[in-house]
Amino acid sequence: MPIYLGGQTTENMPKLDELTPRQIVEALDKYVVGQAKAKRSVAIALRNRIRRQKLPAELARDVLPKNILMIGSTGVGKTEIARRLARLADSPFIKIEASKFTEVGYVGRDVESMVRELADIAIDMTKQAEFEKVLARARENVEEKILDILLPTSAAGSYASYAPESSIDLTDSSSKNRTREKLREQLRNGELDDRLVEIETQDRSTPMIDFVGGQGMEEMGVNFRDMFGNLFPNKTVQRKIKVSEAQTYLLRDEQESLVDMEQITRSAIEKTESSGIIFLDELDKIAGRESGGGPEVSREGVQRDLLPIVEGTSVNTRYGMVNTEHILFIAAGAFHVSKPSDLIPELQGRFPIRVELESLTLDDFKRILTQPKNSLIKQYQALLKTEGIDLEFTDDAVSEIAEMTEEVNRSTEDIGARRLHTLLETLLEEISFLGNELEEKHQIIDAEYVKSKLSGLIQDQNLRQYVL
Ligand SMILES: Nc1ncnc2c1ncn2[C@@H]1O[C@H](COP(=O)(O)OP(=O)(O)OP(=O)(O)O)[C@@H](O)[C@H]1O
Ligand SMILES: [Mg+2]
Repeated sequence: MPIYLGGQTTENMPKLDELTPRQIVEALDKYVVGQAKAKRSVAIALRNRIRRQKLPAELARDVLPKNILMIGSTGVGKTEIARRLARLADSPFIKIEASKFTEVGYVGRDVESMVRELADIAIDMTKQAEFEKVLARARENVEEKILDILLPTSAAGSYASYAPESSIDLTDSSSKNRTREKLREQLRNGELDDRLVEIETQDRSTPMIDFVGGQGMEEMGVNFRDMFGNLFPNKTVQRKIKVSEAQTYLLRDEQESLVDMEQITRSAIEKTESSGIIFLDELDKIAGRESGGGPEVSREGVQRDLLPIVEGTSVNTRYGMVNTEHILFIAAGAFHVSKPSDLIPELQGRFPIRVELESLTLDDFKRILTQPKNSLIKQYQALLKTEGIDLEFTDDAVSEIAEMTEEVNRSTEDIGARRLHTLLETLLEEISFLGNELEEKHQIIDAEYVKSKLSGLIQDQNLRQYVL
């Protein structure tokens, strides 16, 4: 399932399109430890699209993106790099597990759906940006609308009137104006928030149909949202709600009427085509030539389906045709069992940039625990802080956890930094459980504490296979 991760550029970063490769790497460094080569590759690939946009159209058409294949075992940061890139990027971005296409139940799931989903995301992004631009005007209009409802201009207003009891002389326009201004002030101060009004607003409940449709429907080429969307275009509903809620509904309606949907669609399609990024995870799971048949969907078949999309084709979306030629594909996989050379040759050729991610070292584990902006330790600290607990990790505790992580990875299975999650969860189980019941509000985790909680588990062959 694709997940939308972008759109949360909270930091005051320049737009991705203005970043140099070095700046992109620096931005990624804040979250992902090591993996310099992989970071460099994605940074260059992104920068090249901006370079391309500066070329004469005739030449630009021929400059295709250099798709990237990230190879590395589990838990070393492949998805993390893509995830962070997505947050940075002002590009439409989706992450898709290639293996999904081979699952029973997804038989024949059409791979073009990823392009449609990317277009959906681009539309959303563009719409949000446009909404932002008209926000101030929309707010003003909503205010007038609400005032109209609270204080109808003519007695024959179609809305229920909730004018204040203070008698209003409808014939005296200056006193009416004064009342209106007074109401406006009250409205702005939030004094009218709880008052009930009746408004007419667009019915937005139809997208719920999505749940009914589900993914299986794609097989039949049926898009329920489209169907129903067209069946009931712009249906409006009457609602009797509080002023504060009415403002939210009306604002949305107002924004929608102020923006130019056609132009949004056009620029979203353009955005999808020229700066879209598709992250194809678990590509190794579809590597391999013809498999034994049975219920399993042919992996080679999926690879063949992917070819035209990666190469460049036109996909029909509900917003129009989207050409995939310049969409950047970043594929990733562990490639333990299969090798990139097990992919069909045509697909191999479409991922010319190969980067190998390194296995994480003891030092990396220490840094992953503490350095990234929202490192695991910082997450636990913040969680417990909500209950007034100060969690402190001493340096030797961090070293101890890192060493144990390495040890368990070596002796059982190497799951990279994911092991840190399981270890920390076990380590902090008691503190997490007790939370604010703890007498001591300042909890210090030192090497002794780590050993007391984890050593036993690590030494016990059986236990550690299950718990850690
Ligand atoms: N280099 C790293 N720097 C910071 N955190 C990391 C790094 N590598 C892994 N992690 C942490 O480990 C978790 C798993 O990493 P990630 O999802 O990137 O693994 P992956 O390489 O995609 O593995 P898989 O092949 O299983 O999908 C992430 O949530 C992240 O917090
Ligand atoms: Mg992953």
